[in-house]
Amino acid sequence: MAAGQYAVGHGTPSAGQKRADGWGDTIVTGNPGRVGRAPDDMGAPPEIDISKPHPARIYDYFLGGKDNFTADRATACKVLESWGAARTAARENRAFLGRAVRYLAAEAGIAQFLDIGTGLPSADNVHEVAQAINPTARVVYADNDPIVLAHARALLASGPHGVTAYLDGDIREPEKILSDPVTRGTLDFTKPIALMLVAVLHFIPAEDEPQRIVRTLVDALPSGSYVVASHATAEHNPEGLAGTGRAYREGGVRGALRTSAELDELVFTGLELVEPGVVLVSEWRPEGRLRPLPSEVNIYGAVARKP
Ligand SMILES: C[S@@+](CC[C@H](N)C(=O)[O-])C[C@H]1O[C@@H](n2cnc3c(N)ncnc32)[C@H](O)[C@@H]1O
Repeated sequence: MAAGQYAVGHGTPSAGQKRADGWGDTIVTGNPGRVGRAPDDMGAPPEIDISKPHPARIYDYFLGGKDNFTADRATACKVLESWGAARTAARENRAFLGRAVRYLAAEAGIAQFLDIGTGLPSADNVHEVAQAINPTARVVYADNDPIVLAHARALLASGPHGVTAYLDGDIREPEKILSDPVTRGTLDFTKPIALMLVAVLHFIPAEDEPQRIVRTLVDALPSGSYVVASHATAEHNPEGLAGTGRAYREGGVRGALRTSAELDELVFTGLELVEPGVVLVSEWRPEGRLRPLPSEVNIYGAVARKP
């Protein structure tokens, strides 16, 4: 496994063994993220597995949402022990998403969005930001977490002139997302589309072939389309992000941390980066004067145009 990856689940060795993947910490077997059902877990829909932490719900917790359970909060707390500013980073990532969509709708004239790794409904969902600028904007959301599907109704509250649609899709099967009748029935692939890959690719380690996934998606877009991506990195806070990787891995969540050069190569090869290029999300066309430190943010982001 390449340096900077965190993973668990496949052929996990026995407890007490040292990992062979370079992280150097001791393997923890079972599911240490699993905790008993707390009273506030009782209302969870039966189709939702709350015994294990899920990325969408951990992120929801960092953003101050209510759709998270004990196992999610246990992992989030472990993350906060090593990356104390993880909540700040989540907010900065979400703000980047909003600024990127505003740029695309207002300045780049984009009226179609394919948002993969949507997350739970939160402030400034893609369709809300886009349709506030262009009421006819059309948005397809795709996520593989059943809790996002359970809340999708909130994402489908389109304005009367636009369209929003949701599909239960895994980015590791990009062809399925692209050929899904929801995608084809909502988006016109002869006109520019913005592909949104915001805070999702760090859940795709090398063995899941992120390069192939991104190329398949980008190749399907017509010229004049845009790609937005953000991605966690260990470059500014190696210790904090190593602890974060450990916390997710112990909860059974696989992923990878990448440098800005790796993100650039993975997503933006052959595309024209919009100014200011690949930067920390807090530095992408910031609106406020006070910005957090790089060691707090730890998430790169960029927007690029397909020539
Ligand atoms: C950190 S959240 C980001 C949400 C939103 N894009 C944002 O940036 O505000 C990551 C999302 O990616 C989703 N995700 C993780 N792995 C995925 C996969 N293989 N296919 C589709 N979605 C995935 C999670 O369920 C979660 O909703």
